[in-house]
Amino acid sequence: MQEILKKIQKDSVTIDDLEYLISTDKYNDEILSLADEIRGKYVGNEVHIRAIIEFSNYCKMDCLYCGLRAPNKNLKRYRMTPEEIYKRAQLIAQKNIKTIVLQSGEDPFYTTDILKDLIIKIKSLDIAITLSIGERDFEEYKIWKETGADRYLMRHETADEKLYNYLHPHDTFENRKLHLLKLKEIGYEIGAGCMVGLPGQGPRELAKDLMFLKELDSDMIGIGPFIPNPDTPLKNEKGGDLKTTLKIIALARILIPTANIPATTAMGSLHPFGRQMALKAGANVIMPNLTPNPYRPHYTLYPNKICLFEKDTSCIECVKGMITSLNRIIGKNYGSRVKVS
Ligand code: SAM
Ligand code: SF4
Ligand code: FES
Repeated sequence: MQEILKKIQKDSVTIDDLEYLISTDKYNDEILSLADEIRGKYVGNEVHIRAIIEFSNYCKMDCLYCGLRAPNKNLKRYRMTPEEIYKRAQLIAQKNIKTIVLQSGEDPFYTTDILKDLIIKIKSLDIAITLSIGERDFEEYKIWKETGADRYLMRHETADEKLYNYLHPHDTFENRKLHLLKLKEIGYEIGAGCMVGLPGQGPRELAKDLMFLKELDSDMIGIGPFIPNPDTPLKNEKGGDLKTTLKIIALARILIPTANIPATTAMGSLHPFGRQMALKAGANVIMPNLTPNPYRPHYTLYPNKICLFEKDTSCIECVKGMITSLNRIIGKNYGSRVKVS
């Protein structure tokens, strides 16, 4: 373990080293507490709050794991109007939150210009914008960046090429990587990340995810358990477990010390204290759900998703309470990636 840690510091860690750490439980406590220490040293005690608006659950894709996939007929679909989205953004800004995440399925209804106009309006509220709307044209990425969008979340889902291509009948890992590199080149802070517990994914595949995140030098890293959805082809799969997911979050922090790493909603959905545990294992970001009703319960990626029936903006107060109960500090500014010289 000590030898591997030295290699990580010298940037010479190998995929075999990571596979070994993932496959044994011997060093779990050590890995988690080291990640917490590194988090404190590099990104401090602040936890950044990113308010998420899930503005459309229409999706033209058919990722095998996701409840929003186009062939799922057991879902009541909705689209928020740009005016509704903007109103929500105003409310979020009034509450002094400094980042808004606009997330949806891959929904071409929102054209280049609709989103451009929305970005212009929301930026006037002095708030950072993160887009999380799937793969779009490179030209659109450019226009939205020039208009004021700051960040783009698009998980790589799994860095095992064969598994990625199986899970995404209309996409390839090669293409996903190209999009992430393009977004970076254009100047976005990019967010990659993976699910843990996908069918056919073992320590070797998870080690590939970590090597990929390191190679990409991802600014944000979203990691959560895969939770099987009964309305998808993966309904009978086992799904991810808490212990492994926490370890992958911790290793991501150790490998990429300055990244912004959320304690994901899926962690909270897997275990009542899943997000608190993630915040103690390297995470420094939390994303309260600000999708308004009546839409919120219909953004069902997986069963038992938390926060679906909470009162309107109450997730903000809830995450603030969580942050202070862990003796951490509520982030007050945009919470962009820290630069180390
Ligand atoms: N459509 C956009 C995209 O795919 O990037 C953004 C929305 S998508 C629903 C956000 C994330 O949800 C995906 O990157 C995926 O990792 C996660 N997700 C989807 N289905 C899931 C499941 N069954 N369990 C856990 N996470 C899931
Ligand atoms: Fe659509 Fe994203 Fe779900 Fe894939 S993960 S089906 S692109 S919403
Ligand atoms: Fe939604 Fe706690 S964050 S209820």
